[in-house]
Amino acid sequence: MDADAAPSTPGKWKMEKPHHHYRHRLILLHRLQNLPKLAFWTFFAFALFLAVFLLWPSPRSHFSSGSVRRSLGVSAAPWGGPAWEKRVRSSASARRVSSGKSVLVTGAAGFVGMHVAAALKRRGDGVLGLDNFNAYYDPALKRARRALLDRAGVFVVEGDINDAALLRKLFDVVPFTHVVHLAAQAGVRHALADPGSYIHSNVAGLVAVLEAAKAADPQPAVVWASSSSVYGLNSKVPFSEADRTDRPASLYAATKKAGEEIAHVYNHIYGLSITGLRFFTVYGPWGRPDMAYFFFTRDILRGKPVSIFEGPDHATVARDFTYIDDIVRGCVAAVDHAGKSTGSGGKKHGSAPFRIYNLGNTSPVSVSDLVSILEQLLKVKAVKKLVKMPRNGDVQFTHANITLAQKELRYRPTTGLQSGLKKFVRWYLDYYSSSLSKHGSKGRTTN
Ligand SMILES: NC(=O)c1ccc[n+]([C@@H]2O[C@H](COP(=O)([O-])OP(=O)(O)OC[C@H]3O[C@@H](n4cnc5c(N)ncnc54)[C@H](O)[C@@H]3O)[C@@H](O)[C@H]2O)c1
Repeated sequence: MDADAAPSTPGKWKMEKPHHHYRHRLILLHRLQNLPKLAFWTFFAFALFLAVFLLWPSPRSHFSSGSVRRSLGVSAAPWGGPAWEKRVRSSASARRVSSGKSVLVTGAAGFVGMHVAAALKRRGDGVLGLDNFNAYYDPALKRARRALLDRAGVFVVEGDINDAALLRKLFDVVPFTHVVHLAAQAGVRHALADPGSYIHSNVAGLVAVLEAAKAADPQPAVVWASSSSVYGLNSKVPFSEADRTDRPASLYAATKKAGEEIAHVYNHIYGLSITGLRFFTVYGPWGRPDMAYFFFTRDILRGKPVSIFEGPDHATVARDFTYIDDIVRGCVAAVDHAGKSTGSGGKKHGSAPFRIYNLGNTSPVSVSDLVSILEQLLKVKAVKKLVKMPRNGDVQFTHANITLAQKELRYRPTTGLQSGLKKFVRWYLDYYSSSLSKHGSKGRTTN
């Protein structure tokens, strides 16, 4: 019977008895003829096994999602070894051991992260940075921020917050007193193109950081960046911490809101001291190229039209723009005010603080006023285009009530939009002109 005649349903096949010995000899002969083929396939299977064994990801990448990392242009940097540990330890050592803190700043090559890490270092705390230098926006800007931190004595480890083994190693080497967790996939509109990156960094990444903090002995206090975007469709202004936050308008906002709930769990079960900071549209030198004030500056200088969004019935779109130095003071105050975690060995020993604060400026400015200030500072007339605000996650209006932060953190923003933008524009012109003269026309781009 040839193979094609075999019934396709397993269990219905029956071997015919009469020609048993003859069939056996035939099969043997057939196998002998196929010996070279057999040897080839055995070798092939062995080679395949070896390749899979050698290329299989190590347990380090337990939490990471390969496709997300690739889509963001992230490659794992090597870490570990005595020289690396020495550098980590030295960067994280406080100037005065008795009173200084030892702080892990995630997202340290980012806009807010760089400023916070530098400020903590300046006042004598030990600071270690962590960042994966992803390509959401120009990584050259992140590397320039890292170079600045390097000169200030802050080492920024290149790695992903989802790398559980790396986090474990960092906590083994340094007994951090605080974690300032700022690493995240920021931006509202990018979620339409790459939703997975928000889950990877803002949900899975946050859990990985809290897991490491929970397991550390001593447990650090955690201060982390939530966002004003959690207020979503809330129309009661100014936004106060007691307002509804269950109607997010974007995936970004939803991941930050999820983060606040996740943080509460780690506070409740493991006794981690956790402070969430809801930043309101932060701007300033070394800012983020995906934000309007930044790309408006670039487009005005290039003579390209800038789109000014309008709400329904020509309603004004406005933001509570908050200058970076005010945000940094708020973050540092939150570190100082954090209070201790109470857990050890993964168990809680008493309740620990769980707090949420708005960090804003309390004076919203319309986007058209923002453009007018930029025109004046750049001495260039903008080509303006009024556009109906698309439904892609942006909200029409943000305005912070900062009473709680004023009372508990003594947070008092002092920089208005005009003087803050002046400092931004000065930095922008200096950074991009010196980069153009260094690298010619192929130098850094803003996006
Ligand atoms: N800038 C604002 O206006 C604003 C407003 C509200 C909230 N926030 C929040 O503040 C924090 C800092 O924002 P920013 O403006 O400095 O953004 P940023 O993008 O400049 O900084 C974030 C940094 O985190 C890094 N990062 C992202 N995913 C990572 C990962 N998986 N592992 C390691 N590093 C990773 C990025 O490379 C980047 O350098 C973020 O959590 C952001 O959501 C910012």
